[in-house]
Amino acid sequence: MKRRIGILTSGGDCPGLNAAIRGVAKASYHLFDAEFVGIADGYQGLIDGDYKEMKQDDFNGLLTLGGTILGTRRTPYRNMRKIEEDQVDKVAAMKKNYKKMGLDCLITLGGNGTHKTANLLAEEGLNVIGLPKTIDNDIWGTDVTFGFHTANDLATEVIDRIHTTANSHGRVMVIEIMGNKAGWLTLYSGVAGGADVVLIPEIPYKIEKVVESVEKRANKNRKFTIIALAEGAFSKDMSKMKRRERLTAIKEAGFSSNSFMLADHIQKATGLETRVVVPGHYLRGGSPSPYDRLLATQFGVYGAQLIKDENYGQTVAMINGKIGHNTLAEVAGITKFVPVDHQVVRAAKNMGITFGD
Ligand code: F6P
Repeated sequence: MKRRIGILTSGGDCPGLNAAIRGVAKASYHLFDAEFVGIADGYQGLIDGDYKEMKQDDFNGLLTLGGTILGTRRTPYRNMRKIEEDQVDKVAAMKKNYKKMGLDCLITLGGNGTHKTANLLAEEGLNVIGLPKTIDNDIWGTDVTFGFHTANDLATEVIDRIHTTANSHGRVMVIEIMGNKAGWLTLYSGVAGGADVVLIPEIPYKIEKVVESVEKRANKNRKFTIIALAEGAFSKDMSKMKRRERLTAIKEAGFSSNSFMLADHIQKATGLETRVVVPGHYLRGGSPSPYDRLLATQFGVYGAQLIKDENYGQTVAMINGKIGHNTLAEVAGITKFVPVDHQVVRAAKNMGITFGD
């Protein structure tokens, strides 16, 4: 049985993409007569016809390598059916190139946006399989995505290291952690790193509550306070605003992001020196942790099994601790938010960590 497989990585990168590519390839070569075509820069390469034949040797040495050997790009789903200035019909171009490459199927490694486009292509009749990656861990239907645990290790280390400098100087430190919509990374690293305040998008905070908890610690002679703030966490008032209005309000107040605005507010309200740390894309860089190598490998191998079974229109998932799959249609477009009564939230609250609600 011969299968010609197109493979692409789309959206923000994360540790584990190469390990997953390697897993798909090694298992495919092992299970059937496989041929691979590597598509450059995500869906953009599929639209532009930017691809190359890959050989078995191209998949060696990838387990520990960060980033993606295929390159990636954000090609927003919302524009997929829009004809823009270049007059290109993107969906038609992707279908045409899929045919031109002579593919039996397409494997797409990506997050929520990637899954939406994967589902669109499946609806258009292409044989597509998704693999869920993202440091945000916010893909519906899977307990976990690869990339998340490595980012959690890194974010926790940032919080650990900030503790010592915060202690030396007796400062309040606001650490902004990636996660625009969902607060998984901030919640997990905040609790693992022993933050005193954890602010996530799912629980809009009252700024007075945050100030109160900083003051409480200062009154108890605790020299410092660590605040883990998700990049998409906002005060109750600001979370009612539209994204654009919020950005304008922050900019007009003279700040580059909400963390700087919050830090300024805390410093003025408490008189305590307050600093901001933004690890940003550092959390997406470098080698995957052993957990993510294992997860990405298992997801990749399962993807190859789906190809062998010609079970297309699916995305691989960890479901209650077991590797399995969901249909793309079930998962596409649904964000997995942190439930406000999640057991980690409850544990954190029960030990006095403030969420500002
Ligand atoms: O989706 C992953 C993510 O890292 C988010 O946490 C973050 O908001 C976003 O990507 C940043 O995107 P970009 O790399 O395009 O700046």
